[in-house]
Amino acid sequence: MANLLVLNGPNLNLLGVREPGHYGMTSLSAIDEKLIQQANDAGHQLSCFQSNSEHEIIEKIHQSLNQIDYIIINPAAFTHTSVAIRDALSGVKIPFVEVHLSNIHSREDFRKQSYFSDIAQGVISGLGADGYELALQYIINQLK
Ligand code: DQA
Repeated sequence: MANLLVLNGPNLNLLGVREPGHYGMTSLSAIDEKLIQQANDAGHQLSCFQSNSEHEIIEKIHQSLNQIDYIIINPAAFTHTSVAIRDALSGVKIPFVEVHLSNIHSREDFRKQSYFSDIAQGVISGLGADGYELALQYIINQLK
């Protein structure tokens, strides 16, 4: 059994309400519930954490050292700004998959740069809430 963590960054607590044209109609709690079920069905433990604060996300990553085997992260706006979260992930050396609901490459230029993609195992962008499930399925397969 592996311990998995899903991290969501700022404003993703507003999923379902926030710009549904970009981010869809599914709430974050509905996404989290499905992922927990999917992980449990595969015999793994999954926890979910969302924060609007860079500091809290960094602390959560530090606490994951020796506790968490894999991370799925949607850093949201911190994707394009946070060297600090990138360094935290590099520091704990936990493999991670980067997920974005929208296709960050088809939007404004400032969204095209990610501080995470080059150190992620993989990146899923533009597949909506399915992206989290696909990332988790990849991780489950890796753990077999
Ligand atoms: C996002 C894309 C980011 O550019 C944006 O700031 C978000 C969400 C996505 O899931 O598509 O908040 O990460």
